[in-house]
Amino acid sequence: MAKMWKGRFRGATHPLMEAFGQSISFDRELGRQDVAGSLAHAKMLAAAGLLTSGEHRAIRKGLAAIADDMAAGKFVFDPANEDIHMSVEAELTARIGAPARKLHTGRSRNDQVATDLRLWTRERQDALAERLRQVMLSLLAVAERERRLVIPGYTHLQRAQPVLLAQHLLAYVEMFDRDRGRLADARRRTNRLPLGAGALAGTTLPIDREAVRRELGFDGLCENSMDAVSDRDFAVETLSCLALIAVHASRLAEDVVLWATSEWGLVKLDDSWSTGSSIMPQKRNPDLLELVRGKTGRVIGALVALLTILKGLPMAYNRDLQEDKEPLFDAARTVGSSLECLAAFIPTLKFDEKRAAALLRDGFLDATVLAEYLVEKGLPFRTAHETVGNLVRLAEDSGRRLRELTGREMLAASPLLDAGVRRRLDPAKVPASYASAGSAGPAGVRRALAAWKKKLAK
Ligand code: ARG
Repeated sequence: MAKMWKGRFRGATHPLMEAFGQSISFDRELGRQDVAGSLAHAKMLAAAGLLTSGEHRAIRKGLAAIADDMAAGKFVFDPANEDIHMSVEAELTARIGAPARKLHTGRSRNDQVATDLRLWTRERQDALAERLRQVMLSLLAVAERERRLVIPGYTHLQRAQPVLLAQHLLAYVEMFDRDRGRLADARRRTNRLPLGAGALAGTTLPIDREAVRRELGFDGLCENSMDAVSDRDFAVETLSCLALIAVHASRLAEDVVLWATSEWGLVKLDDSWSTGSSIMPQKRNPDLLELVRGKTGRVIGALVALLTILKGLPMAYNRDLQEDKEPLFDAARTVGSSLECLAAFIPTLKFDEKRAAALLRDGFLDATVLAEYLVEKGLPFRTAHETVGNLVRLAEDSGRRLRELTGREMLAASPLLDAGVRRRLDPAKVPASYASAGSAGPAGVRRALAAWKKKLAK
């Protein structure tokens, strides 16, 4: 195949090299950003006197038509053009002729690709932040709807203390909100303009980077031309955000998988989100949740891939950097669709109140408040812990619950365990007495719900 810049070569590229080196099969994803970058660059070149106004007009119209074709899905990507930058330039040349030969003045594909990728990443960061907001809103809606439901809370996957379901759901709202914060933080460093760095050293031509920055809505310039074309830390940071979002989504998925087991039986999956088995007619499988959990592996893999690609790179641009795109594109797409599904799925969760009550009955979920009752009565906590431990053993050995112990047994364990203790001994009522800031009872949850509703309204 002929080379686009023939000058220094006599021979054609080996077909295997072409196939191996091409990126057009995936960097076409950057089409819109590539055209936007070229439009801004051309405008600046015209202002700097490097294009006549006629040339600029021809380039502008040509690029606008290409953008329209891309938006309409009509742009034909010729595999003869190795990447998106060459595709757009070659197509522009085919459409408008000579003026297109000036478009690449004062720039390189190295600063061009870095610019395209930052534009793309910035957009995805915003879109993902919105997806996160939607998931948070759906969690909030269920927390609000089920705000009275008490369930067992677990540590070590052993029944621990009763909590409001809302508190459990709001824990994920907190996580996803921090994820939004991390995306916003990564965005600040992403939103800097590499264009004008040239191949690595800048240019002798009188370009105006500041004008291009303004035109493309970047907050600042990449200040060092070699850094501008060679680092991808903005993509690493974004992948790191994505990996953590995926981890959080995966934990949520795992919780719901457990809740939906026959053993837990706390939620029933809606038909619209359940899948059957090809052999077992009774099955109602949580495939969505398992996929959300499973896809986390490839998102974490994408982060590790990019870090590994970058780790041994000498200054400045190296073709290894072309390998940045597929992991980033895939991870963003994967997390985006996981979040989209979760936002639609969460409101369909139906909780079984009877089952929740049954789950609370066993497991001595009221043991800790009982110990705290003794502390209120003046007992040192360690002594109270031991006293209640003895009562738990007594109850367990005789197949009873704490509230089924007799008054005499209580008093024998401690004279402080008067009749007043009975009021505390019902796991379903325990959360009502949680008093500390951020605790899992109605007072804390009510405050949190109101605060999140305000924060997420927009
Ligand atoms: N397709 C290349 C990439 O994604 C564009 C930059 C190529 N630059 C070069 N000097 N070969 O990184």
